[in-house]
Amino acid sequence: MAQNITNGVAVKADKVSFHFKKLRAIDELSLVVPAGISFGLLGPNGAGKTTLIRLITGLLKPKSGGIDVLGQPPSRKNARLIGYMPQLHSLYAELSVMQNVSFFAKIYGLKNSKQRQQRVEEVTKLVNLWGRRNDSVMNLSGGMKQRASLACAIVHNPPLLLLDEPTVGLDPELRVTFWDYFTSLTQEGTTLIISSHTMDDAAHCDRLGFMRQGKVIAQGTPTELKEATGQPEASLEEAFLHFIHREEGSDG
Ligand SMILES: Nc1ncnc2c1ncn2[C@@H]1O[C@H](COP(=O)(O)OP(=O)(O)OP(=O)(O)O)[C@@H](O)[C@H]1O
Ligand SMILES: [Mg+2]
Repeated sequence: MAQNITNGVAVKADKVSFHFKKLRAIDELSLVVPAGISFGLLGPNGAGKTTLIRLITGLLKPKSGGIDVLGQPPSRKNARLIGYMPQLHSLYAELSVMQNVSFFAKIYGLKNSKQRQQRVEEVTKLVNLWGRRNDSVMNLSGGMKQRASLACAIVHNPPLLLLDEPTVGLDPELRVTFWDYFTSLTQEGTTLIISSHTMDDAAHCDRLGFMRQGKVIAQGTPTELKEATGQPEASLEEAFLHFIHREEGSDG
């Protein structure tokens, strides 16, 4: 994995902009995500989290500015290095859990059919869907679909995982399970970029980027961001509001 990472940086964005017609979804955004950590993207609806993640995957191209992903510009050629769990599930509803995971394993290039089968079984067990492996995805609960979607994103063991609101709709126990797994992945050297609205997720992340109107308005460890408010007892929620208000002040 380490050979794909330049100077310990997994993702670097430098003054990146992206517009949907006239709408400036990403606005001269700069960001550094060190390798081997969990990096949380936090921001209100429409802040640009999903758009940024899609720029990192290479699905969208910046209108200006530069992005480096594992030392290279984002491109579909890097697809095998990235696991992407979209905000809206991209599962095939009529196919079973195992068929979905196997499909993603194939498109991500796990060629050897025996090894592929083993890995598909491994991740299906990991997300605790072994008992439902032959069920069509359409018959699963929302949280089970999340788990199937995660299995599809991790099946090829990518060094960089992009998870767009992976914990939405999970029950508290499953949330803990997901976070235990995310932590074990970073300990193995995987970089995780996770978008979320919850301060519970934020507190689990090694570093955070607070987003507003297409920009990263603050980035740092949860402790650094809390300390930046100048109030020793500040919560992450208060830290987030502190930076939002500061930006609003500077907007005039
Ligand atoms: N395909 C699209 N066409 C036009 N505008 C879009 C498209 N996708 C996103 N946008 C706009 O870009 C802006 C950023 O959207 P984005 O989905 O990146 O926000 P987000 O931070 O992921 O929000 P949420 O928390 O609701 O998921 C929004 O104003 C949104 O309406
Ligand atoms: Mg989004």
